[in-house]
Amino acid sequence: MAKAKTKIVKAKTKKKSIDQLLKESAIVKLDLACGANKQGKDFIGMDMFPYPGVDIVHNALNFPWPLPDKSVNMIVASHFLEHVSASGIDPHLSDLIDLLIKNKILKEKEITDLMGEHRIFSNFIRLLDECWRVLKVGGQMAFVGPYYQSIGAAQDPTHVKPLCEASMLYFDPEECGGLFWNFYKPKPWKLEMQSFEGSGNIEVIISKRDIKPYEERIKSHLEVEN
Ligand SMILES: C[S@@+](CC[C@H](N)C(=O)[O-])C[C@H]1O[C@@H](n2cnc3c(N)ncnc32)[C@H](O)[C@@H]1O
Repeated sequence: MAKAKTKIVKAKTKKKSIDQLLKESAIVKLDLACGANKQGKDFIGMDMFPYPGVDIVHNALNFPWPLPDKSVNMIVASHFLEHVSASGIDPHLSDLIDLLIKNKILKEKEITDLMGEHRIFSNFIRLLDECWRVLKVGGQMAFVGPYYQSIGAAQDPTHVKPLCEASMLYFDPEECGGLFWNFYKPKPWKLEMQSFEGSGNIEVIISKRDIKPYEERIKSHLEVEN
């Protein structure tokens, strides 16, 4: 696993390593992009800014996150996913970075320390893949954000991803016979529940599926892409 650039907040009263944070509770709960409103003291808060309550200051689009595989029981993301763009890193930039590495102008480590992975097709898909990686099998992720037709979705100049009731169809291989999942074959989720109000929020719960039944299909998809 490549190491992404990260910083742990060093508040006067609290200097905890990620290891300590993970060991503190039998049930590890991650509040992704918690801002200054962490769900509770029993959550590990991650955000790109060092707001009060943030335990891990890390840009969630800098992959991988400084959390081990299968280390988290539950993820909550409140009003964050609408900030994650559907597109990823411009392929021209990725090619340029490859060239800089190939010509020994920059070292791979310098790139990963600065920006994590440099070949990302879609930040939104990569982010959900990363949530899947850090969750234990069966672990749940709950998120809430503005429904795409609401004023809340349109008003914020930093919102880039519309969220609708069909968004998660692309992440669950068992929904609609895999019709939508087959397009990009991300890590497999189970859509557990969702509800939305046309002029308000959409709330979704998904859980991590075991990859085994889907592994071959994901592998062949990646081989075709490369
Ligand atoms: C609308 S606020 C929501 C904060 C909190 N979860 C809540 O419900 O009140 C969005 C949060 O996402 C954080 N954020 C945006 N992009 C991020 C990124 N790439 N990585 C980590 N945090 C990010 C912002 O710093 C901000 O705290």
